[in-house]
Amino acid sequence: LSRASFPKGFLFGTATSAYQVEGMANKDGRGPSIWDVYVKIPGNIAGNATGEVSVDQYHRYKVRLSLIYIFLFPFERSFIGMSRNLTVDLKHSCLGYRPSGLTETNRLASVWPGEIKGKEDVDLMAKLNFDAYRFSISWSRIFPDGEGKVNWKGVAYYNRLIDYLLEKGITPYANLYHYDLPEALEKKYNGLLSRRVVKAYADYADFCFKTFGDRVKNWMTFNEPRVIAALGYDNGFFAPARCSQPNGNCTAGDSTTEPYIVAHHLILMHASAVQRYRHKYQATQKGRIGILLDFVWYEPLTRSKADNLAAQRARDFHLGWFLDPITNGKYPKTMQNIVGKRLPRFTRHERKMVKGSMDFLGINQYTAYYMYDPKLTNQTVTGYQNDWNVGFAYDRNGVPIGKKAYSYWLYDVPWGMYKALTYIKERYGNPTMLLSENGMDDPGSVTLPKGLHDTARISYYRDYLINLKKAIKDGAHVTGYFAWSLLDNFEWKSGYTSRFGIVYVDYSNLKRHPKMSAYWFKKLLSGKKKN
Ligand code: GCO
Repeated sequence: LSRASFPKGFLFGTATSAYQVEGMANKDGRGPSIWDVYVKIPGNIAGNATGEVSVDQYHRYKVRLSLIYIFLFPFERSFIGMSRNLTVDLKHSCLGYRPSGLTETNRLASVWPGEIKGKEDVDLMAKLNFDAYRFSISWSRIFPDGEGKVNWKGVAYYNRLIDYLLEKGITPYANLYHYDLPEALEKKYNGLLSRRVVKAYADYADFCFKTFGDRVKNWMTFNEPRVIAALGYDNGFFAPARCSQPNGNCTAGDSTTEPYIVAHHLILMHASAVQRYRHKYQATQKGRIGILLDFVWYEPLTRSKADNLAAQRARDFHLGWFLDPITNGKYPKTMQNIVGKRLPRFTRHERKMVKGSMDFLGINQYTAYYMYDPKLTNQTVTGYQNDWNVGFAYDRNGVPIGKKAYSYWLYDVPWGMYKALTYIKERYGNPTMLLSENGMDDPGSVTLPKGLHDTARISYYRDYLINLKKAIKDGAHVTGYFAWSLLDNFEWKSGYTSRFGIVYVDYSNLKRHPKMSAYWFKKLLSGKKKN
């Protein structure tokens, strides 16, 4: 496996999102988002953690060498406490950090060049040979009230980040929305339940195209709209935590209708932003715009027709919910049958706007599950049920579908990636795709230095990339790959207990330490790019 295994122009990047990495959540003029509210309710997040500081990418996107800092070097320790901006870890970068206490020292030494320590995020990406960076823009950092007044300090931050990425030869991929609706719009309009967010979002997107589009050529409207609708409005796991199931901290909602209303609005928000981009900016800026959808591969538990139909239903509810309207203007038939009148309709005008509203499709692919029809196979369905969560299993005859990572939902199933991509190719006319997220959280020890020895992650990445390569060889039009994530970061409900990074973050001082998987990528990407 090397760069040469992938087609011409194929690019490799890492992905993050604003609330998960930026920090400075309440500073420099940023308004709160629904996540800032959600994390404050005790019990919502593991350890009651928040994204207030997170990994401080707001300051640490680049190495900031300052004369005064070098001068004060001997007092580094106390000085770090005084100023978090001056983050360069000179001690480690000079001496090199080597994990001690590992048994496989020799093996490690061969993949441990030791020259990367102390570099901050964008410098690190460049050192690790990545071509691109997928980040998200925090809407409420640009418009603290969701609309109206601009926060120019926020604009300046993204300008700095984008400029520095370009300076380092890293292509920016900007996503406009990663779960973080401005709280002001939640209060004022009832958030995504109201159509009024459509114009507010299109205006925000328009502002971003106008302001950053001279340099950003790859735009994404939403990350995982299905998760927004399902976890925000059905099971209440994510902000704004609405649902009608008896479930911990849910606020009252109606999970039989709200997810569909919200998803409908998200599709309209997406399409209206794409329309703005195409009408006003695309011809001059010459960029492209797409959406990021999450897709779990659903494998029928048995070969029975019933289980095959169950798996297809699950794929429709998971991917088709968004990809069917965007591809052909309609919700999937299975959804229309099951959801009936509760499923909103597009007007003729809306359908025209929605159909074909992407230049590329980002797929976030991590795992696979089995699906069965409980009625026909006489199995008992356990746990929480809704329209789509019927009859899924992590194992077949007691054998798990793959090795489990730390997160309860994440099993290492590399062949699922192959099946997912070839399925999209066949069912949706082989759109231009990006594999926009893929990765796993450490199942084992997460302390330094052992946490750097992430062999399970290396084998996960290798096997998934082999399957990606195979899918491309069999015709899937995939043009890039993004690992989730560059850094350990705020993992939503799991807070900081789940680590998805190829770079370890020591949360006691926010220092970055590349894990073995980072060096694995560095080596993989060291070959010449095919252009
Ligand atoms: C998502 C997001 C990421 C997650 C990642 C790991 O899928 O929810 O895109 O924000 O952190 O997927 O769970």
